[in-house]
Amino acid sequence: MENPTIPWPLFDLRLTTRRLVLRPMTDDDIPAFIAAAQSGIHDPARSPFSYPWTSVPEAELPANMAVHVWRTRAQTTAAAWTLPFGVWHEGELVGMQDLVAVEFGTLRTVSTGSWLRQSAQGRGIGTEMRTAVVLYAFDHLGAEVAESEAAGWNAASLGVSRAVGYEPNGIHRKQWSAAAEDVQLLRLTPDRLHRPAWTLHVEGHDGVASFQGLGAAVHADS
Ligand SMILES: CC(C)(COP(=O)(O)OP(=O)(O)OC[C@H]1O[C@@H](n2cnc3c(N)ncnc32)[C@H](O)[C@@H]1OP(=O)(O)O)[C@@H](O)C(=O)NCCC(=O)NCCS
Repeated sequence: MENPTIPWPLFDLRLTTRRLVLRPMTDDDIPAFIAAAQSGIHDPARSPFSYPWTSVPEAELPANMAVHVWRTRAQTTAAAWTLPFGVWHEGELVGMQDLVAVEFGTLRTVSTGSWLRQSAQGRGIGTEMRTAVVLYAFDHLGAEVAESEAAGWNAASLGVSRAVGYEPNGIHRKQWSAAAEDVQLLRLTPDRLHRPAWTLHVEGHDGVASFQGLGAAVHADS
């Protein structure tokens, strides 16, 4: 018997860039998602993440990662959502790129979080995947601002932000993992975006737009 298709409209969303495919992860993708993280994301001595999800005992990571995917899916509403995009390069799931919004109808602001397996880092993939979700947010969802933040020492994340066109937006002292950290805030508006030479191909947007009115904020004239 064929597997029944789960009626989750966000599964149809697919962003294609020059080298990458980004789509919200299905349950079938979760093992590859876990394997990518287990292969190593960062130097264990210092976490780049505000919430130190990679620093848990090894045995806890797989279930925690599955819960992250399920939770973001289950908590999707028109006002507050996280699109947990898996990122595929040459057919392999190499990392993830979250696109997050809170009170989107009012604020029209998105934020992002991302990581790549270490073997995929430093080849422009981080810039390409962030550009993809920001283009999608500005051009298809009607976002007006994209925000980001990174520990002041995270040259790779700050490098992505710079390459995409974000501008520094202050330094905020925050609890970051277990320690205090000077966190660099960043902000991007559509006029500052460094539009890439490649075209973003978007499939499945209609299902997203109609889901719980998530697309209600899309410009009426678009
Ligand atoms: C952050 C991350 C997603 C960036 O992706 P990436 O593919 O490695 O980055 P890119 O190759 O697109 O590089 C983007 C820019 O940063 C620069 N850069 C990348 N790594 C760098 C490093 N370690 N030191 C200094 N500059 C760096 C690149 O030269 C490039 O700048 P340019 O466009 O001016 O040449 C990836 O490195 C990663 O997963 N890191 C660990 C997890 C993490 O830090 N997540 C973010 C938490 S806020």
